[in-house]
Amino acid sequence: MTKTVAVDVADGVAWVRFNRPDKRNCMNPALNREMMELLAALEFRADVGVLVLGGEGAAWSAGMDLKEFFRETEALGLGAMRQADQECFGWWRRLRWYQKPTIAMVNGWCFGGGYGPLFGCDLAFAAEEAQFGLSEINWGILPGGGAAKVATELMSFRRAMYHALMGERIDGRTAAEWGLVNEAVPLEQLKTRVAGVAARLLEKNPVTLKATKDAIRRVGEMTYDNAEDYLVRAQEAANSFDDQGRREGIRQFIDEKSYKPGLGTYAR
Ligand code: ACO
Repeated sequence: MTKTVAVDVADGVAWVRFNRPDKRNCMNPALNREMMELLAALEFRADVGVLVLGGEGAAWSAGMDLKEFFRETEALGLGAMRQADQECFGWWRRLRWYQKPTIAMVNGWCFGGGYGPLFGCDLAFAAEEAQFGLSEINWGILPGGGAAKVATELMSFRRAMYHALMGERIDGRTAAEWGLVNEAVPLEQLKTRVAGVAARLLEKNPVTLKATKDAIRRVGEMTYDNAEDYLVRAQEAANSFDDQGRREGIRQFIDEKSYKPGLGTYAR
C-alpha cells in the first residue's frame, strides 16, 4: 500500500485503485510516480494474471491535478513540466503494453487526463452512474496528454468533436454507446461484473492473451499485408514461449472431445 495508490491481490487479480478520494483521485506527480512503481512491481508476479484499475471513493479519476500537476509544476519551469508529462505518459504507456490483461473499472468521475489510463486498459466497464467528460475546454486548454487521440480512437469523428468542443458530461450508459467503455452496469453490480470478466480471462493461456492484446492494438495502424505478416511473426514468437498450449487445445477438442473451442476454453 502506498499513499496515493492502493492495491489488493486476490485470486489472481490485482485490484489497483487511484487513492486520493478527497481530491477525486486527480493525478498529481506523486501519484504518477507511485503508480508506475506499483505497475512495475505487479507486472511479472506469478500470482497476478489480470490487473483491474479502479478508484477509491466517488471518483475513478478527475483527470490531472490542476494545482500540483499544472500550476505548481509550471512554476518550476519547462524541465519540470516535461518531467511531469513523462511520468504520467510513462505509466499510461506501460498499461497499454502491459504483460497481463487490464480492465478499467470506472466507478465514478472520469475527466480529461483520465482518458489516458482509460485507453491504457484493454477493457473498460463503467457504472451507469459514472460521469465522463473532456472538460479541458471548460478551463482553457485543448485535450492534450493523449486525450484527443483517445477520443478519436474510441469514438466516431462527430462524437469526438462534440465531446471535445462542448465539454459536456456523458454517463456510463452513453459512454458504452459511444465506445469509450465496453459496457455499463449499475454501480452495485460493477465489481461483480469485472470479477467475472477477470475470472474468464484467468482461464485462458497467458502467452496467448499477451499476443492477442498486442495484436489488436498494433494492427489498427497497419495495412492489411503488414498486419498479415506481423500476425504470422507474432504467433511464431508466441509459439517459442509456449508451444504446448495450442497443441493441447487441439488435442482436447479433436482427440479427447472434452470441450469445444467455439463454446469455451481448453483446460490448462
Ligand atoms: N485538480 C485539482 N484538484 C481537484 C481536481 C483536479 N482535477 N478535481 C477535484 N479536485 C479537488 C477540489 O479542488 C477539492 O479540493 P478541496 O477539498 O481542497 O477544496 C476536492 O478535490 C474535492 O473536489 P470537489 O470539487 O469539492 O468535489 P465534487 O464532488 O463537488 O465535484 C468534480 C467533483 C465534478 C470531479 C469536480 O471536483 C471537478 O470538476 N474536478 C475537476 C475535473 C476536471 O475538469 N479535471 C481536469 C480535466 S483536464 C485534464 O486532466 C488535463
